Amino acid sequence: MNNSNGRIRAAITAVGHYFPEKILSNADFEKMVDTTDEWIRTRTGIRERRILEHGATSDLGAKATEMLLKNRGMDAEEIEVIIVATVTPDMMFPPTACIIQEKIGARRAWGFDLSAACSGFVFALAVGRQLIETGSHKNVLVVGADKMSSITDYTDRNNCILFGDAGAAVLLEPTGEPDVGLIDQVLYCDGSGGKYLYMAGGGSLHPPTHETVDKKMHYIFQDGKSVFKVAVIGMADVSAEIMQRNNLTGNDVDYLVPHQANLRIIDACRERMGIDPSKVMINIDKYGNTTAATIPLCLSEWWHCGKLKRGHTLVLSSFGAGYTWGAILLKWAFDNPNKS
Ligand code: UT7
Repeated sequence: MNNSNGRIRAAITAVGHYFPEKILSNADFEKMVDTTDEWIRTRTGIRERRILEHGATSDLGAKATEMLLKNRGMDAEEIEVIIVATVTPDMMFPPTACIIQEKIGARRAWGFDLSAACSGFVFALAVGRQLIETGSHKNVLVVGADKMSSITDYTDRNNCILFGDAGAAVLLEPTGEPDVGLIDQVLYCDGSGGKYLYMAGGGSLHPPTHETVDKKMHYIFQDGKSVFKVAVIGMADVSAEIMQRNNLTGNDVDYLVPHQANLRIIDACRERMGIDPSKVMINIDKYGNTTAATIPLCLSEWWHCGKLKRGHTLVLSSFGAGYTWGAILLKWAFDNPNKS
């Protein structure tokens, strides 16, 4: 399983996703808060998002994993590790990874949750990659899932229009083929950004009380304008950095797979990378910002419709609370046999 450098390389070998049926459209928001479809579309790119009415983040992750296992023709008992990126775990503990493990019947797996907000999936992929590349594990399931509706204040027009619920998953396995797999990663965090995007209540600093509930501390707080300014630079910089490190131009990249927070942030990133708009995976219009799920949801959707092919060069790129941000460069490893 060694590549041409004698190192084991990790590759994504299966994908799956799940989004709930209930749609919350911009027209619905016009009835809930002082907003318009036109404002939401032009400022964010969002038209609608999905809402999980019954169930929790583990249900989103479990359903995505079930699709992945079916696609891969694999039994849940073969899974060795489960990493769940989320900011909306079912509970503070046990880890949502354990709840998903039980739901899907992955009896032999160990696992844990990873909290890195909108960069959660990129960070989890970077961690999972190491577990494969050291040779210690034969597969790692990386799930990005968030029920953002559970921490959204639907009276706050600044934030409620942004978020939605979804889950998606990828499987990492070692590959012996030198021309596919995860190639490089650039990851950052900057805690000085913490004050611009957070949920204050429910943790050890502000355990839940009547007061924390009255003050709406269990909802997302975001100073959108401040986050926007940093995100637009951060996501573009880190994407350009990973391209430079690997001597890539815009022509060498087949897809930018960006975190879906705002279409204007995605556009700025694409322009900086010098790539054509047709090479950007965008589904923010359908799902809004699903936090840890955005990037794997794109990967799974594009693979399912046959647009993502073996050998494609991808840059995954994210920016989120923390601040956390990062990019991963990879070469896609497998076609959809039903679409070739
Ligand atoms: O995923 C994690 C990282 N998060 C992000 O990357 C999000 C970054 N931020 C953003 O995407 C944008 O800042 C928002 C979409 C959140 C807001 O867009 P903006 O262009 O920065 O708007 P703004 O906050 O500067 O607000 C402009 C105006 C304000 O009115 P005034 O003060 O100019 O009179 C807001 O009160 O738009 C008003 N506004 C709204 N109007 C209609 C804010 N929300 C709404 C709304 N409908 N839903």
